[in-house]
Amino acid sequence: MCGIVGYIGSRNATPILIEGLKRLEYRGYDSAGIAIINKKKSLKIFKEVGKIIELERSLPTPAETFGKTGIAHTRWATHGEPNLKNAHPHADENKKIAVVHNGIIENYKKLRKKLETKGYNFSSDTDSEVLAHLIEYFNRTEKNLTLAVQKALKLVEGTFGIAVINEENPNQIVAARKGSPLILGIGNNEFFIASDVAAIIIHTKKVIYLQDGEMVTVDKDKFELTTLENQAVKAKISEVDWQVSAIEKGNYDYFMLKEIFEQPISVENAFRGRLNEKLSTCRLGGLSMSGEELRKIKKIQIIACGTSWHAALIGEYLIENLARVSVEVEYASEYRYRNPIIPADTLVFVISQSGETADTLAALREAQARGAKVFGLTNTIGSTIARESDGGVYIHAGAEIGVASTKAFTSQVTVLTLLAVILGRMKDLSPTFGAGFIKELKQIPQKIQQILDNDEKIKQIAETIKDSTNALYLGRGINYPVALEGALKLKEISYIHAEGYPAAEMKHGPIALIDENMPVIAIALKDAIYDKIISNLNEVKARNGRIITIATEGDEKIKEISESVIYIPETIHSLHPLLSVIPLQMLAYHVANLRGLDVDQPRNLAKSVTVE
Ligand code: F6R
Repeated sequence: MCGIVGYIGSRNATPILIEGLKRLEYRGYDSAGIAIINKKKSLKIFKEVGKIIELERSLPTPAETFGKTGIAHTRWATHGEPNLKNAHPHADENKKIAVVHNGIIENYKKLRKKLETKGYNFSSDTDSEVLAHLIEYFNRTEKNLTLAVQKALKLVEGTFGIAVINEENPNQIVAARKGSPLILGIGNNEFFIASDVAAIIIHTKKVIYLQDGEMVTVDKDKFELTTLENQAVKAKISEVDWQVSAIEKGNYDYFMLKEIFEQPISVENAFRGRLNEKLSTCRLGGLSMSGEELRKIKKIQIIACGTSWHAALIGEYLIENLARVSVEVEYASEYRYRNPIIPADTLVFVISQSGETADTLAALREAQARGAKVFGLTNTIGSTIARESDGGVYIHAGAEIGVASTKAFTSQVTVLTLLAVILGRMKDLSPTFGAGFIKELKQIPQKIQQILDNDEKIKQIAETIKDSTNALYLGRGINYPVALEGALKLKEISYIHAEGYPAAEMKHGPIALIDENMPVIAIALKDAIYDKIISNLNEVKARNGRIITIATEGDEKIKEISESVIYIPETIHSLHPLLSVIPLQMLAYHVANLRGLDVDQPRNLAKSVTVE
């Protein structure tokens, strides 16, 4: 989705802005641009469709682009095609004020009409351009950019994260947010604005996360934080705990591959400090509920999107199975539009890697509006969902840059497993189960590593399916959501159509698709329903389907029905997803890579979906 970077200080802003935009590439975009106020105190705007590198190549000489104040943007089209005129920054007609905007101005048509009747001419199809003209309109009388921005934003319905500069006051940036993340970075006699810390952490780790309804006026040597109503706000400076290496690819070709290979560590980080070996249970400090309160819970709703929704489905299975509490999993995008029922003693969880997904945020607010206590499970410290939840747990997966989520998924599943054990131990689960669970969980990182060490074999299997046009993923029970996640990974990055199904459901329809060209990727682990899934796979085999199985180490029999087998180490049933998903991520990665695709930035996708 769209990204914002801004700089004000004593260095040349242009390379800093370009570097910042490159750090935001992972979020997905289709055009980019920068605006700087140059040495002659003149506003200059440079834009390009396509990659940042194209923008960089199109820039005139460094002398012409030198300026100490600037703003920049990556655009992910919502209103108007991805072309040059719609790319940001947008400017007023006299090209004195420039604006970058993330979010959506819902009443932009009305505002545009009003401005047009006052004689304003528009040069793009975007909703964002109205901001440039509106701010200019109010600045005529206010002669103060902060006040002009406040007046303009009062008229706006929708969401925004914006940064604005005005050549008449070259040493100032004004930024504001409502519903779209924005951060002020505090450097050494310099300041940064960003929609995502990744854009600025090579310069500073000291940040202020702007809250909804807040704005900041940044001058060369000071800043002032206020509300949009001009009330002073006390600044709370936070320290970002990411290392710069977290946002570099290191020796890997792609972030996605790096993140797949980080899972032994990221899963361990998700449970580190959360195991209570003495009492054979787990702990999640952020839950902030007493044992008595937790025991009273009659129902849990888990709300999420995409991969996080798949983690939620695994959570449903685990919590119902281990804690005997009824769980309902909801698509965040549907939640607020379907008049959800939240009975008393229901606990609501929202899961979001980014903590900024607009649908999930809206669902959180809807559940709160209906009186529910909502906990957030996020990866991003200081994110909107983390801040607006009534409590929450961080998954500590570290920066996830690859658009296709991998390590965040396994960390989410780890935390949901801990939750299920906590609730279960308060009810029927025995200390023996708790102790056995902890012992086995501690071995998961090393077992993930064992699967990763099989990379070459998985790549060879990927070679055999890379030219397919369709693929079917099958799983049962707790591995059914894993099949869904495997299918999602494949379609996202390889553009091969893939579907996940509960294996036994296949005979009710999808079986019609099976022929000698259809790869069927099946999770068939040694558990209580092993024989059942083997029967389902025999139905595929009888129709000449190509079967690739994810099987338990030592299962020789499965070779009889499989074209290829990927073995994973044995573990207890509740922990299967943490292992079974790994080869599916690797398979998707290799297929996409062998097809020559950009694995980290798949077409049309954005890392953090901040629009509805
Ligand atoms: C898939 C993927 C998306 C996200 C979804 C929710 O690989 O990354 O499906 O899972 O957009 O994002 P978060 O978890 O940030 O709310």
